[in-house]
Amino acid sequence: MNLFINNIGQLVTVASHGKRVKTGIDMCELHILSNASLLIENGIITAVGKNGELTAPADIDEINAEGRVVIPGFVDSHTHTVFAGSRENEFAMRSEGKTYQEIAEAGGGILSTMRATREATKHNLYKFAERRLNEMMRNGTTTVEIKSGYGLSPEAEMNILEVISDLKRDHYVTIAATFLGAHAFPPEYKDDKQAYVDRICDYMLPYIAEKKLATFVDVFCELGYFDLKATEQIILESKRLGLIPKLHADQLNAFGAVELGAKHHAISVDHLEKTNESGIAALKNSETIATVLPGCSLFLNHRYAPARSIIDAGIPLAIATDFNPGSQMCSSMQMMMTLACTQMQMTPAEAITAATLNAAAALGLSGEIGSIEIGKQADVVLYNVHDYRTIPYHYGINHVWKVVKNGVLLDF
Ligand code: NIG
Ligand code: FE
Repeated sequence: MNLFINNIGQLVTVASHGKRVKTGIDMCELHILSNASLLIENGIITAVGKNGELTAPADIDEINAEGRVVIPGFVDSHTHTVFAGSRENEFAMRSEGKTYQEIAEAGGGILSTMRATREATKHNLYKFAERRLNEMMRNGTTTVEIKSGYGLSPEAEMNILEVISDLKRDHYVTIAATFLGAHAFPPEYKDDKQAYVDRICDYMLPYIAEKKLATFVDVFCELGYFDLKATEQIILESKRLGLIPKLHADQLNAFGAVELGAKHHAISVDHLEKTNESGIAALKNSETIATVLPGCSLFLNHRYAPARSIIDAGIPLAIATDFNPGSQMCSSMQMMMTLACTQMQMTPAEAITAATLNAAAALGLSGEIGSIEIGKQADVVLYNVHDYRTIPYHYGINHVWKVVKNGVLLDF
């Protein structure tokens, strides 16, 4: 697909010049070209320049951006998009003062979505997720990581991973699949938790690796869920099979999950609401990306991750939605940028870097996506604004004008 986009008011390239991630002060450097144009050929960015510097080849489709802003498509590197049911009852209970943990202990939480998901057909799981992915793309997201984790039995988890594979085959959005069988202990194993961990390691992980159903393996490393020992067992077995570890770490309690992730070279550790100096020190000496999920803090009224300290320590930081039915029911990366700026003392420029290049790196994809540079995949989004800072500033609405995915102008 060939496409020429001209009269771009601000072309926010987030150029990294070959670097995998941006850290520290570099996160503020967006490499913006004003009054620019962009040439896309066969789905790849082939030229970037000032208006007038580039000429459109004959017979090419053209978009006149009329001074609008263009930024790389968002990469949402942490979501739980495949699930059935919904939990507005828990939302209402929290509004009356109940906590996330109290609701989970009373039989709600992850297990309530597990029940609904186990009962749903694969066709319905696919349809529900497809609608959510369409909505994400309309809001500027062009790559999405999706975790399993609401099946919690070999059959139900594999069904979810197969739905993710089908969506990956069919949907315009780029999808990265993560196995999160270690999301909670299913009722069948409530009296023998080690047996569930062994089932994951001895049966589920080898099956997933053989059938190539996931690239990543995640664990909810948390008190009352998967402890450090179980988490380490799952990480080691995943790595042995060629699967890449990620962790849900320090969401409700800090007890060494971030340190464990850094030690085993997890590609990212996510959440970090409770991360302290020890976690920051461990990340500083690693390649692991810190992914913060500010929507979760808003929705559960928890404290925000110490994003400012993490960036100032020189650790690569990404932001993601954590879209899921329990702790974060918002799939807008534009909204996450607003929360990053208002609640975590990040600048709009840092928020863009965290939602594009660094988030791509959290999926091992920053060589192909996450910035607008020659040779990269043409995932670019045009916004109805004339200054990129308006995106987080004028919040709660969708500013997207047009989405170009792999060089194709999407029609919705
Ligand atoms: O990332 N923390 C664990 N998993 C999700 C919540 C899942 C749920 O409540 O359904 C999270 O916040
Ligand atoms: Fe999550």
